Amino acid sequence: MTTPDAAGSLEDFVAGLPKAELHLHLEGTLEPELRMALAARNGVALPHATVEEVRASYRFDSLASFLAVYYPAMDVLRTEQDFTDLAWAYLRRAAAQGVRRAEVFFDPQAHTGRGVPFAVVVDGLWDAVRRAPAELGVDAALVMCFLRDLSAESAMATLESSLPHRDRILGVGLDSDERGNPPVKFAEVFARAREAGYRLTMHCDVDQPGTLEHLRQVLEVIGVDRIDHGSNVVEDPALLAEVVRRGLGLTACPISNGFVTAQMKGPEIAQLLRAGAKVTVNSDDPAYFGGYVAENLVALAQAQGLGRADLVRLARNSFEVAWVDEPTRARYLAELDAYAAAAGVDDA
Ligand code: ADE
Ligand code: ZN
Repeated sequence: MTTPDAAGSLEDFVAGLPKAELHLHLEGTLEPELRMALAARNGVALPHATVEEVRASYRFDSLASFLAVYYPAMDVLRTEQDFTDLAWAYLRRAAAQGVRRAEVFFDPQAHTGRGVPFAVVVDGLWDAVRRAPAELGVDAALVMCFLRDLSAESAMATLESSLPHRDRILGVGLDSDERGNPPVKFAEVFARAREAGYRLTMHCDVDQPGTLEHLRQVLEVIGVDRIDHGSNVVEDPALLAEVVRRGLGLTACPISNGFVTAQMKGPEIAQLLRAGAKVTVNSDDPAYFGGYVAENLVALAQAQGLGRADLVRLARNSFEVAWVDEPTRARYLAELDAYAAAAGVDDA
């Protein structure tokens, strides 16, 4: 374990802080360098000649404009090795930032829809996930997201194709364009996923049309085990009280929020923390938004004036709402307690 220096920098304290990352799209970790390398390996023509040109094309100010850049970029992911390389590059960065547990999203339909078989995606990702504990000290788990702008029938077919790989996939989520695609559209799919033993989460992205109704649906109709983003819940005291009462995890992504909407939602995240909600900080699509989990924690802390006890609380929340067995959770929390104690921080 890294021993924190009580007088050390905020950046060092955050990088050494043991934590779980619970909202991370693997496809959103496709850095321009890897995209160019995979394009060359697979003979895929890119519209950009240099890494700088690729980066310059990453301009967006809404969820829809981000997704319009995001999906075409995935075209370079073709083989099992490509998916392994993608996941491994992320897990290495996560390990360097103190991540002990990573529950990571992938979008099978974004690949099967362009002819890449489901098994190629899962087997490729799994090869990185299975090696990460011994080689990197990161426990990882795969969470399969359905694209909510496609039909419920397509999601159900994807769920069925996942069943032979059930032991390699921990849960299901719902992402992509939220406008006009409410949680209830997928009620049957998620009920079937629950029967199959999957854990359930859904995006309730920031400031989306109908966001409070979407939050109500994930709580009352779907019965999710966690909510991705969800910080608009502060606007409805009854919904917030229910989230707190259930101890439901909320996976906030501050830097990403600043792209999808006008700001990081820092005050809302701080309010959730003070209200006792199990809010966590994550990186969403770091290759596109420019910050992995540590940069997100630092950005939030600086914007909101959060102290080290708040950062320990955010890390504690991440382990408390991670989908792990109790002995594993106790091990993570003991490591966090030791880190906080060595830094002279008490978040009680
Ligand atoms: N897919 C990848 N990143 C996403 C995000 N931030 N919101 C919705 N869908 C996504
Ligand atoms: Zn997301």
